Amino acid sequence: MPKWLKDAVFYEIYPQSFYDTNGDGIGDFNGIIEKLDYIKGLGCNALWINPCYDSPFKDAGYDVRDYKKVAPRYGTNDDLYRLFGEAHKRGIHVLLDLVPGHTSEEHEWFRESGKAEKNEFSNRYIWTNFCFQPMPGYPYVGGECERSATYMLNFFKCQPALNYGFLDCKEDWQLPMDHPDCIATREAMKDVMRFWLDHGCDGFRVDMAYSLVKNDDEVRSGTCAIWRNVREMLDAEYPEAAIVAEWGDPQLSLKAGFHMDFNLNRPDNGYNSLMRDYGMPDKLHGEDNSFFKKDAHGDITRFLTEYLPNYEGTKEDGYYCLITCNHDTVRPKYNLSDEELKLAYAFIFTMPGVPFLYYGDEIGMRYLDLPTKEGGYFRTGARTPMQWTKGKNAGFSTGEADALYLPVDPAADAPSVESQEAEADSLLHTVRALLALRHAEEDLQADAEFAAVYAESGKLPFVYRRGDILIAVNPSTETVTAPVDAAGRREIFSIGKGKAENREIMLEAQSFLVLK
Ligand code: GLC
Ligand code: CA
Repeated sequence: MPKWLKDAVFYEIYPQSFYDTNGDGIGDFNGIIEKLDYIKGLGCNALWINPCYDSPFKDAGYDVRDYKKVAPRYGTNDDLYRLFGEAHKRGIHVLLDLVPGHTSEEHEWFRESGKAEKNEFSNRYIWTNFCFQPMPGYPYVGGECERSATYMLNFFKCQPALNYGFLDCKEDWQLPMDHPDCIATREAMKDVMRFWLDHGCDGFRVDMAYSLVKNDDEVRSGTCAIWRNVREMLDAEYPEAAIVAEWGDPQLSLKAGFHMDFNLNRPDNGYNSLMRDYGMPDKLHGEDNSFFKKDAHGDITRFLTEYLPNYEGTKEDGYYCLITCNHDTVRPKYNLSDEELKLAYAFIFTMPGVPFLYYGDEIGMRYLDLPTKEGGYFRTGARTPMQWTKGKNAGFSTGEADALYLPVDPAADAPSVESQEAEADSLLHTVRALLALRHAEEDLQADAEFAAVYAESGKLPFVYRRGDILIAVNPSTETVTAPVDAAGRREIFSIGKGKAENREIMLEAQSFLVLK
């Protein structure tokens, strides 16, 4: 386990929308470099940058055309290497986004694979034997290539699935995982990883990490075997490199060799119940029962029922992480006020594992209702330009407003880093204070034990312990008490007001208390 993860706090950057330094309306590597001091000052010491490789951008770069070349719109490979160096100077580690399950249909491998004549890449993707042959149970496309065959998709139509083989081969066109051409796919992906690690990258967030082997079993034995093989390579050659899975099932991913996995927002799951319990993305106006919504009477046991077995079952293997949001998820500001967000973040930043802060969430950027951009659909509204100042384009770009990658939040009261710097109790200052607290207290970092101390369905506060530190949170508008004896402890941090006396912890409305 890379030691730096223990006190890591990640900042996720959607590079398109972070900071534009040449006025073309799109964020760039130089922009990230210029903002490294801001990120460091926030308390984040690691980055996850969404795909920044050459791409036709039909899925915002998750359709990779060349794994080893950056997209010119962000700069050059040398600019990215310089970004690694500048980040390292400040003690910041950098993860790139690895997309191992599919490429763009414009990737050179795919062009070769679609040729009628057999070649080295014929089996790099998954093809049937005939142009009218269906692929039962999988999405597929025919009629696009010279080769008389249909091919499998991994996500959108622009993303053909790479061929890591089938755990259970049911048709003659399905190759077993140990077929040399399937092993070649795995080795090609390791080669991509080595390429970036050799240039100073510190690891990868792995896109759709669960999706590699087809006809896999329930516990993803095939896909997990591949990740165990990748982890062996990392342990031997790059022991300080870290990988985090987009998976959401730590009992599989962490045991398969990932250092980290995220809680992902899925309708009705535990993570969803914290901040986004208001229905599906296509109908965002359902009743809101989120735990951190002040008047929703949320129930923390809905989170814990799912979280605890996963945490208990994997704490020896790696980190099951909490995110504020990501580029696929509605921003938490959509339904929560800044006061509610302070409590939600206080919880996320004091939990075990490694927290991830999505750019702009530190100032409570809104989720905008926008037409789709680069395959974003409902996700587009969570990908708008970072709001730095009160000036033109919120300080994101000197370009013309209509040339920007996405419009900047037009609201007169849209938050910015500048406006929140000036406000003493802004969300931004609270995020800084919380991250400073986490860095100061080992018991609040990745490893210290977590236990629920008072977590009753329908009751507040929620009280939990990290190592020797006791924490209580009350998202509601009422004063509440819990029968928890905190004698001899002193307060080291608070939002709102609370106290511990007479074998009780009392919290006023919308408060958070840390006792040591
Ligand atoms: C992951 C990414 C998402 C992308 C998809 C296909 O879920 O987070 O943005 O569209 O994979 O690569
Ligand atoms: Ca630019």
